[in-house]
Amino acid sequence: MKNFTYYAPTQVEFGKQSENKAGKLVKKFGGTNVLVHYGGGSVVRSGLLDIICKSLEEQNIKYTLLGGVVPNPRVSLVREGIEICRKENIDFIVAVGGGSTIDSSKAIAAGTNYEGDVWTLYRHEDRIKSAIPVGVVLTIPAAGSEMSDASVITNEDGGLKKDYCDSLLRPKFAIMNPEHTFTLPEWQTACGATDIMMHTMERYFSNDDDMDVTNVVAEAILKVVMEHAPIVLAEPENYHSRAQIMWAGSLAHNDLTGCGNDGDWATHNIEHELSGMFDVSHGAGLAAIWPSWARYTRHQNINRFARFAVNVMGVTNNFKSAEETAELGIRAMEKFYTSIGMPINIKQLVGRNVTDAEIEEMADKCTNGNTMTVGGLIKLTKEDIINIYKLANE
Ligand code: NZQ
Ligand code: ZN
Repeated sequence: MKNFTYYAPTQVEFGKQSENKAGKLVKKFGGTNVLVHYGGGSVVRSGLLDIICKSLEEQNIKYTLLGGVVPNPRVSLVREGIEICRKENIDFIVAVGGGSTIDSSKAIAAGTNYEGDVWTLYRHEDRIKSAIPVGVVLTIPAAGSEMSDASVITNEDGGLKKDYCDSLLRPKFAIMNPEHTFTLPEWQTACGATDIMMHTMERYFSNDDDMDVTNVVAEAILKVVMEHAPIVLAEPENYHSRAQIMWAGSLAHNDLTGCGNDGDWATHNIEHELSGMFDVSHGAGLAAIWPSWARYTRHQNINRFARFAVNVMGVTNNFKSAEETAELGIRAMEKFYTSIGMPINIKQLVGRNVTDAEIEEMADKCTNGNTMTVGGLIKLTKEDIINIYKLANE
């Protein structure tokens, strides 16, 4: 098994009424003057934002509100948030919402103490030395940003979607009450389940086969999400199933399933260009790309794909042909995605086939102008990525 570092410093408060702890947690981690950041209004309508504000008031903590984060969060709002933090001397940020709100909060946290423009970080041209601490009140299990070191931001100028990863951005606390996910629309529920599965699969499909604990944990997370996603789609207020998915979402992306393997991440990188160009939901974009990525790369570690087919997708092993077992696993995953309303190709995702020029542009951005490869299982070149987009476009 490979050496690894596992660093998951986020304090998790899971369960009913955990949102009432927000004020005390901010105080515990030194916050006295807070920016409360949120999205397009779901937390206003549900009353959660009021609960968080009240919890801060009870601890005599001053706060400023900044809403308006959109899915695929924009750098323009991040810059606005940075200005507010500097002007108001904000010393803590509370994100109330999903991955987009958390990522926007992390970007503001990184950018406030940083002298240059925040986008420089997302261009991977510089790194921060400090960040304002962030706490999270999660409303959608999906991105896993509540425990991850990543922030993914879209620059409207050029439709670029890029990440910046830094341990300084791991949230101090994550409050997770599954009741606050009852209001999620079916589409967001399914996109979230897909993203959780993909965070596990990106790490699972690697060339490192000898990490037994990690393998079994990954397979269990995948099976639990596949069991409970259809239940919450049918019964949105099923606490038990919402809770399973919510906790799986954090474990899938706090690096637990990456201990001892290098991971792949090609599907994520290829998807980020789709959501950057077409503003589609991240989870749906992943479902549309993964089958094509899998068929293009499986020969590299065919036994791994066969193991996945048998242990996760319940396919009967054809011991004479790992190739056939692997293909049946991919088909079973396509069937599952379809059953929860996810697209399995680009046409289903975008509503039309994309043009060769669009594919060329996405592949170019994905490889930073053909200067780098993408993915760990196979190091994919720009040409490989064009081939995968084309496969997904058929
Ligand atoms: O904006 P509001 O009104 O809150 O509505 C949101 C939004 O429209 C809605 N929603 C969230 N919770 C709700 C709810 N509606 C009703 N009831 C609730 N309880 O859902 C919509 C989607 O929210 P968003 O935050 O965009 O979803 P998600 O958590 O899937 O985040 C997606 C973003 O995270 C990035 C993605 O690329 C994408 O930009 N990712 C971040 C990662 C990270 N930081 O580690 C890793 C991921 O791979 C991913 O790339
Ligand atoms: Zn993701």
